[in-house]
Amino acid sequence: MNQKLKIGIIGTGTIGRVHADAYAANPAEAQIEALCDVRAEAVAAEAEKYKVPQQFTDYRQLLKSDVDAVSVCVGNALHRDVAVAALKAGKHVLLEKPMAMNSKEAAEIVAAMKKSGKVLQIGMVTRQHAEVQLARKMVEEGVLGDVYHIRVVLLRRRGIPGMGGWFTTKSMSGGGPLIDVGVHYFDAAMFVAGLWNPTAVSSNTYAKFGPLMKKYRYVSMWAGPPNFKGVFDVEDYATGYVRFGKAASMSFEVSWAVNAEDENYIEILGSKAGVRLLDGKPLKLVTEYKEQVADVMLQYQKTPNIFHVQAKKFLAACRREAPPAATAEQGCTVMKLIDAIYESGRKNSEVKIS
Ligand SMILES: NC(=O)c1ccc[n+]([C@@H]2O[C@H](COP(=O)([O-])OP(=O)(O)OC[C@H]3O[C@@H](n4cnc5c(N)ncnc54)[C@H](O)[C@@H]3O)[C@@H](O)[C@H]2O)c1
Repeated sequence: MNQKLKIGIIGTGTIGRVHADAYAANPAEAQIEALCDVRAEAVAAEAEKYKVPQQFTDYRQLLKSDVDAVSVCVGNALHRDVAVAALKAGKHVLLEKPMAMNSKEAAEIVAAMKKSGKVLQIGMVTRQHAEVQLARKMVEEGVLGDVYHIRVVLLRRRGIPGMGGWFTTKSMSGGGPLIDVGVHYFDAAMFVAGLWNPTAVSSNTYAKFGPLMKKYRYVSMWAGPPNFKGVFDVEDYATGYVRFGKAASMSFEVSWAVNAEDENYIEILGSKAGVRLLDGKPLKLVTEYKEQVADVMLQYQKTPNIFHVQAKKFLAACRREAPPAATAEQGCTVMKLIDAIYESGRKNSEVKIS
């Protein structure tokens, strides 16, 4: 029988509640033992819902409790401090994305993980989509041949979250759509392709909508309403080109706001076949069959809830039955890539990644 792990959740906002739901859906393997948020009323509401015995408003106090593992679901600026403290306290950690504000902070988390000997899984949940897992398997089995280029397109026409709040304030978020949603697609793209060695980036970042604040026209605002007295000092669109040595490359376009239709996909181009993922359409291998140009429609079962799968894999990793579903080292690589994208945009030149 599986060992039932005692879980603490730090940050009971939007994503903290999603983590709580995921653990609660798996009562055989997890028990939510403790919750923490600086907003005591948010903790109390979740504690009531899931009958959680221990409630805290200071995460350091939660870390003194007897939980085995924690989900770190606070804003980006706190990821490093909370994750390092949790690892030092001997807790396994499921750390929300982005791993940290930048690669320097990410490296500090990796060092703490190594010292602690505890499990650290990064919340790169996009990987848990069945089509992403299937594409990875096909790349591993050579179905796509040599993967030489990836196209990442993640365009929101009007999707700035929480204008003027922490999402749009660089000192609190680390950046705009690149670090908010781009991290998911960069991670999934490198995961599928098996390419974890980005060597150089050339990019441009722009802010054409956010800085308008009151004149920003939108239909709905996630994490709203807007705070016009707040700050918008991050990008709202980024585009660029990533080299993986001479062997492969990746082009990307990521936006929170752009005068173009909503569009999202990751396209993997291989010498034997290509495949487009996450565009909401049936999965199709663009290939050849019996010396004929052909499409192969792939049948597969969709993942009902990617957060449930992520939590289940984290619990298995804590029990040392499997590696973490997204490793700290991979999280670090994503942060190095993001750092280089920002640097290239600032310098207006190609930046090497070491
Ligand atoms: N995986 C995903 O798809 C996904 C989706 C949304 C958000 N996220 C990530 O989750 C994190 C949180 O985002 P969110 O949308 O839930 O934000 P949120 O603002 O809704 O929640 C953050 C919570 O942290 C609490 N908090 C702040 N300081 C704290 C402290 N010192 N100790 C304890 N609690 C504290 C806040 O009161 C708030 O309830 C971000 O890093 C974000 O990037 C990931």
